[in-house]
Formats: sequence, C-alpha cells, structure tokens
Amino acid sequence: NEMTAEPYKIKMIEHLKVTSREEREQFIREAGYNVFNLRSDDVYLDFLTDSGTSAMSEQQWAGMMLGDESYAGSRNFYHLESVVKEYYGYNYVVPTHQGRGAEHIIARMLIRPGTYIPGNMYFTTTRAHQELAGGTFADIIIDEAHQPSLSYPFKGNVDLQKLRDLIARVGAANIPYVSIATTVNMAGGQPISLGNLKQVRELTQQHGIKIIHDMARVAENAYMIQQYEPGYSDKPVAAIVREICALTDGATMSGKKDALVNIGGFLALNDLALYEEAINLVVLYEGLHTYGGMAGRDMEAMAIGITESVNEKHISARIKQVQYLGKKLLDGGVPIVLPVGTHGVYIDATAFLPHLSQLEFPAQALTIALYKEGGIRSMERGIVSAGRDQNTGEHIFPKMELVRMAIPRRVYTNLHISLAAEIAIKVYENRNNISGLKMVYEPKYLRFFQARFEPL
Ligand code: F0G
Repeated sequence: NEMTAEPYKIKMIEHLKVTSREEREQFIREAGYNVFNLRSDDVYLDFLTDSGTSAMSEQQWAGMMLGDESYAGSRNFYHLESVVKEYYGYNYVVPTHQGRGAEHIIARMLIRPGTYIPGNMYFTTTRAHQELAGGTFADIIIDEAHQPSLSYPFKGNVDLQKLRDLIARVGAANIPYVSIATTVNMAGGQPISLGNLKQVRELTQQHGIKIIHDMARVAENAYMIQQYEPGYSDKPVAAIVREICALTDGATMSGKKDALVNIGGFLALNDLALYEEAINLVVLYEGLHTYGGMAGRDMEAMAIGITESVNEKHISARIKQVQYLGKKLLDGGVPIVLPVGTHGVYIDATAFLPHLSQLEFPAQALTIALYKEGGIRSMERGIVSAGRDQNTGEHIFPKMELVRMAIPRRVYTNLHISLAAEIAIKVYENRNNISGLKMVYEPKYLRFFQARFEPL
C-alpha cells in the first residue's frame, strides 16, 4: 500500500506554533498530565482525535452560506434527510448535536434496566449511555481483536458463538439490540466484514433482536471491505456503505468522523413508531426534530460531507495516509496494533513500556512522552479510558493498553505524518526513561477526559 498524493490542494492555512521542550514540560505539568487539558495552541501535531477535526471542502464552506436558520422546517434539514436516505438508505432521520446525542435517545428508548447490549467491543460514550439507561454491555467481538500484534483482516467481526451464548444465557427478550460499530474504534479502527455482518443479521432475525449501527466511520469500513474482503473489489464504496446499512435497523451517527464536519450527528431509524418516539425525546434533550442541536448551516455542511465521504479518491487517500504512518512506525520498530486501522495508528503501550504495570497507566504515560518529545497530542485508550465497573467500583482492566494517533481528514500533509513517525520512533528509542503515573483526581463519568495525574 503506497502513499498517494493528497487529492486536493490547500486554500486556507492555520499556523502551527513550535514550542521548546522546557515549555512543553511546563504545559503538560499544568495540564495535570492529561493531554485533554492542554491548549491546542501548545500542540504541534494534533492526533488527539479524528472527530470534528477534519478540514471542510470549499463546497461545504459554500454550503454554510446557505444555512436556513429557521427554528422549524429548515431547508437544510430536508437536504440532510434526502442525503441520508440516498447514501445510507434509512427511512427516518433525527438530527442531534453529535453522535452521543443519538446514543442517548436510542438507549433511552430501547434499553430497560437489567437488559444486555452486546456489541463488537465497547465505545466509551456508547457504553456510558447504555449503562445510564440501566443496561449492561456484553463484549461479543472475536478474540483476535484483543490481541494487538496479531494481524487479522477483519478484527471488528462478531464472534457468533459469543452472541449465541449470551442469547441462551439471558434470553432474547432481554437483549434490546446488538450494537454494531463500523469501524471498531477501541480495537484500533478495525473493520467488520460484510460476510460476518450478514451472519449477525441472520442470527438476530431468528431471535427478533434489532441491530443498531454505530456508523461513525462506515465509509472507512466499506473501503476496507472493498480492498480486503473477497468479492467486493469491483464495488464502489458508496454501494458497500448502502449494503452495510441495509443489514441494520437503525443507526447512530457522529458526523464528526466520516461526514467531514466539525459538529453534528443524527439518529436514523426505519421504524415509524420508534421515529415518532425519538422526535418527541429529541425536543427535550437536543432541539426541535428539524434541527436537533445543529444550526441550519451545520446540517448543510454535513449533507455535503456525506456525499464527499464515499468519494473513492478521498477515502483511498485518507486511509493510505493512515497506513503510511503505520508502516513508518513499524519500520522504526514501534509496536503497533496490526493491521493498521482506518482512522489512526494505535501504539501498543504494553509492548512499548513493559517495565510499567497497568496501574501505572502506561498508555497515559506514553501520551505524555510523545507530547514532551515533539508536541504530538495522542489519546490514551487503556485502563484510564476503560473506567470502573459500575457494580463493583473496581478499575476495569482492558486487555490492551493503547495510544491512538488519530489522523484528522485532509488536515496534515504526508510530510507532517513522516515527522510524527520520527518523533514517535525517537520516544521508542528512549523508552526506558519513561516512568509511570498516579491518578490524583478522578471524575465520575468518562474519567479519561478530565482526570489528573502526577509522575511516579
Ligand atoms: N461511536 C464511535 C465509534 C466514536 O468513535 C465516537 C466518538 C462516538 C460514537 C461518539 O460520537 O463524539 O460525536 O458524540 N469518538 C471520538 C473519538 C470522540 O475521538 O474517537 P460523538
């Protein structure tokens, strides 16, 4: 997989600030050793997330000028609705301010206390809303997904036996839906295959269980199917996206990923009665059902972004840039999750820092080292992100301690990517100097965002 040149040119730029190591050491200390507390001005290469950080196209910016900011019935809503129907095939669309707004509404509608929500690995906000509604998440992803160094093509696949066992144990009536993510963020941005999804559909249909699709990166998943699943190499990404969506009953969407916008999302449904309940709830928590927490201009930008997300040149360059970073890191000996996922490269912090125990927060410590070395901001995806068991209050010990370098879409040049790899390789060469952390402040929900640490 070779790097391809960017299929766009740059019209407007943002200046980057270069800081000294001494400054960075001070900034990260003041941030409580949590990169979420840094000012972005003090970051050189921001790989914290690919969420809401992508660059919009001139068409999207032009669309912003077409914003119809009427309280009700904005024309941009109708445009968004028609694009969602055309590109994703769902019947009904409820706009929300971002993905978790949609997760909140679907969880509130479908989950009753004591029920179970199986999923191809958890995602932080998704699981939090399932738990707030009284449900328990059950991991049904294949075991391969929990083994970072094992290269396996579709690590986002569901282990059907795990799903059958859960149904046998708790009963189909206690499973409101199966949550299927395209792609699986916490596994390293790994895709699910269409073959596997079809089997999940068959099994859930036999038991009358719904599938709710977390479709934040569905175009990226579709590209991986086109490239790596036998039988799909001649199919356009757009057609594969439609095929994925058709196997599910509804979806939560964070438009901040695939759809190339800075803010926005929606809940999509096929069932009219559920849709009616959802538009009633959205008024309470987000806004009227024709804007749901978004400005008209933001809905317009998202509608246009969806059409761009399935463009073959765009999606291929996007994923090849991520794969290029992965290859550079591998060549430099850095242990990463294999195969490289679609929205970022995930460093295996356990293998990187074998001298640290999981309670010394190795992945968190590595995010700090990357920042100090070169002003790179990455994200912890290990024990800090996993949080605590809601019943016992104990830490959840995830099998993987990962550091994600997520790549925003259309933002950094390939030279930036090369430089980032060099910085990370330098940190790797000096890995023995990296010490662990202790947590000195821990918020109750989604602690990774606001926790504070001190070096050991
Ligand atoms: N589902 C997945 C798979 C996600 O990656 C995210 C967000 C969400 C749902 C929630 O969407 O942020 O619009 O409310 N992921 C971001 C990330 C935060 O950095 O991976 P949201």
